[in-house]
Amino acid sequence: MKVFNKIFLLLTAAVLLYGCGYSSGQEAEVPASKDLITVGFTQVGAESDWRLASSASVQKALTVENGFNLIFNDAQQKQENQIKAVREFIDQNVDYIIIDPITEIGWESTLMEARDAAIPVIIVDRRVDVQDPSLYTAWIGSDFKLEGDLACGWLKAYLDAKGIHGRINIADIQGTLDSSAQLGRTKALEEAEQRYPNWHIVAKESGEFTKAKGFEVMEKMLKTHRDSINVVYCENDNEAFGAKEAIEKTGKHIGTDFEHGDIMLISFDSTRAGLLLTQSGDIGTNVECNPEYGPKLLKMIEALERGETLIHDQYIDEQIFSAEPLVVSVWTGSQKKKVTLLSDEIIKERNY
Ligand code: AHR
Repeated sequence: MKVFNKIFLLLTAAVLLYGCGYSSGQEAEVPASKDLITVGFTQVGAESDWRLASSASVQKALTVENGFNLIFNDAQQKQENQIKAVREFIDQNVDYIIIDPITEIGWESTLMEARDAAIPVIIVDRRVDVQDPSLYTAWIGSDFKLEGDLACGWLKAYLDAKGIHGRINIADIQGTLDSSAQLGRTKALEEAEQRYPNWHIVAKESGEFTKAKGFEVMEKMLKTHRDSINVVYCENDNEAFGAKEAIEKTGKHIGTDFEHGDIMLISFDSTRAGLLLTQSGDIGTNVECNPEYGPKLLKMIEALERGETLIHDQYIDEQIFSAEPLVVSVWTGSQKKKVTLLSDEIIKERNY
């Protein structure tokens, strides 16, 4: 539905409701659903704090008051659920489909079905790996490889600043395998291992982006490599929360005194709880993954309603945080990025 018509209908509905004697204390009646833009959104799941924030951002933006009828699907980390949901959206003849794809592969035929039904598809956060990029209207999301490069760049700068040049054993608690977030962050670490001869990835297993699995995987890794792990590269905050509990359960200390057996955590997302652990020094660096897609998706759909063409692929802005003043900037191999020194203010403003 065109934006002008939508505004006109909302105003008309407001005037009619006022005329019917609705007082300001009562809930205003919403416009009829046929006047709304219907959007089907299949979300990855509810595996992490980041994910809950991302769902909330979309649900807060695509509201009836803003002219939307949002059909929200929680795919519970299963791609088959997402494919089923997209087919249902097509059957319901929605106006737009939004997909946050659990894994990159396996989307070709589903996107073809949406194209045959002439329903525009917006991909958000993670990517789809398809031959023909015109199968989706636009993608907006994170540069996960850059996130990983930033984390590794920070670790390298930190070790150099501290004069630590001996062997560094790294355990990688990966995200959901084959998701863009896992592929990019793991790749960055693997490349860094190739670049720096003293870095060794001694363990690698998926923690599925959850605290419970992060705990379980960390416990297992500690049994196998009890006294040799120096750094745990957690591919999101929830895994870091689980890893911290598992490490502390064994009586080991989280910190940077590697010579005395400390284990350093590195993490991604920069949720409020993650930043608090970064401020206290439990997490050395925390690379932001921005979940605030709601307002951006709203603007994108409004632009499409006006008949505009969207930028096909665009990255969302992200920062790198640390409480360690020794490292002020990070070199990723292609760019230099300032490290944001954590403050109470930054943490207070974080709403997820
Ligand atoms: O795709 C974004 C990633 O998925 C976030 O890092 C993680 O927390 C989430 O579950």
